[in-house]
Amino acid sequence: MRAELKFAPLSDIQTELLAVLAADTQTAKGPDAKPAPALLTTDEKLKSAAAQVLSSGEFKAGANETVLLHAPAGIAAKRLLIVGLGKQSKAAVYGVRNAAGTAVRYAKPRGIRELAIALPAAGELDAAQSARAIVEGSYVGDFDPDTYRSDRKDQSIQSLTIAVPAGADRKAVEAAFAEGVIVGESQNFARALVNEPGNKLTPTVLGARAAEMAKEVGIKCEVHSTDKLHELKMGAFWSVSQGSAEPPALIVMRYEPEGVKNGPVLGLVGKGITFDTGGISIKPADNMEKMKYDMAGGAAMIGAMRAIALLKPRVRVIGIVCAAENMPSGTAQKPGDVQTAMSGKTIEIINTDAEGRLVLADGLAYAKQLGATHLIDAATLTGACVVALGMVNAGGFSNDDDTWTKFDNALKTSGEKFWRLPLGDEYMDMIKSDIGDIKNTGGRWGGAITAAEFLHVFAEETPWIHLDIAGVAWVEDSRSYIAKGPSGIAVRSILEWARSYQK
Ligand code: BES
Ligand code: MN
Ligand code: ZN
Repeated sequence: MRAELKFAPLSDIQTELLAVLAADTQTAKGPDAKPAPALLTTDEKLKSAAAQVLSSGEFKAGANETVLLHAPAGIAAKRLLIVGLGKQSKAAVYGVRNAAGTAVRYAKPRGIRELAIALPAAGELDAAQSARAIVEGSYVGDFDPDTYRSDRKDQSIQSLTIAVPAGADRKAVEAAFAEGVIVGESQNFARALVNEPGNKLTPTVLGARAAEMAKEVGIKCEVHSTDKLHELKMGAFWSVSQGSAEPPALIVMRYEPEGVKNGPVLGLVGKGITFDTGGISIKPADNMEKMKYDMAGGAAMIGAMRAIALLKPRVRVIGIVCAAENMPSGTAQKPGDVQTAMSGKTIEIINTDAEGRLVLADGLAYAKQLGATHLIDAATLTGACVVALGMVNAGGFSNDDDTWTKFDNALKTSGEKFWRLPLGDEYMDMIKSDIGDIKNTGGRWGGAITAAEFLHVFAEETPWIHLDIAGVAWVEDSRSYIAKGPSGIAVRSILEWARSYQK
């Protein structure tokens, strides 16, 4: 998809389809308060083209509701698509992002390859933020996961124009637009990785894809395997890979902006299990195919590193992905085995399906050894987190309130949903082992939290955030603005969090 900005009156824009947002301006409540949809534009010609359908009562401007007009009178566009934002009083950038995705996904299956989306002219919505959100939402909407279909119809949008009404701050809108392109592409880059099946995307291939990306954007990347794991004494990470014929990959990406020699070093650590069978504690067959997305945390870090490399914040960032395949075999680790992690801590393996925390334990320790002063990890870590928060919010944990506050602020820009869950010594007690230091499961109750406490043992005192994205890494049902499939969650939030540390 090519995207460009156009500063011109909306009614003059020649396009196959012009999408304009509308909100419900009704403020009264109660059964008699009928929706009062209004276009978010000051363009009089556009308003009159839409006047009839808006007064008909057919369209209520609900969130992502659409209505299409052909050959709209008095404007240059061939079609006018009105996309609802919901109540005007609650209109937010979050809704703008989704509305843009809805417009793109409306056009795609209808053979429309070129469209324009109007930047909303609503008082509450910041023009620059809206411009960025429209680009991001459009890229997200343009993605479909049908990579391996032989009848794949490439329905991608070729050209997107964002139409900016007069009066908007041109410089700010241009900068936000450029950011949106980078962020949208990086999120889709992560989604494409997550979408790949386990046989195509092995740990080695994931490493190669990260290295290729790093080369393109000009950052350092090293990909290590078994020997390096032994050399670094990464007994926890290696134990997960030992049952697979596929070697593990320790992916290390470094973003080192020129002239930044001190200040924080951010360590991004991702779980990169390219397939999780559960190992000897094997998973049931139902839905096991989904476990190809068990590297979504790792993919998020690779996508975030891409965006960071291109947006160039003045802060050093190290990205580490611990990639392995969790398989049962004659060489696989067994329940009851004791592993020694890189940090020296011993781990009793209770369940070989709790493998994500094992690879992350050594990833976090390594990030610290490489000099990380602040840590963030992302992982499809626990089913328990899905039970707790459903498929709406991802889980977040932190040992440091200031660090979490920075992440929480980043969410305001990213529009992603994370909900902070507690840590605590009582949960730590649940993972004490009789034979070693800790065990890799804490039983059924509070499973997302005991998993986080396990990671806490390796993050130690370093300010750290853990993101459990198990419930939201895969969109289970397609929505008007996003396809069923990989969501690309966490790329945007991690990027914004990282930027908040720049000098
Ligand atoms: N990859 C899974 C977690 C998962 C579940 C991701 C559902 C996405 C959707 C993880 O490795 C796992 O198997 N966790 C176990 C831990 C348990 C054995 C303590 C779980 O959550 O059941
Ligand atoms: Mn598992
Ligand atoms: Zn897993």
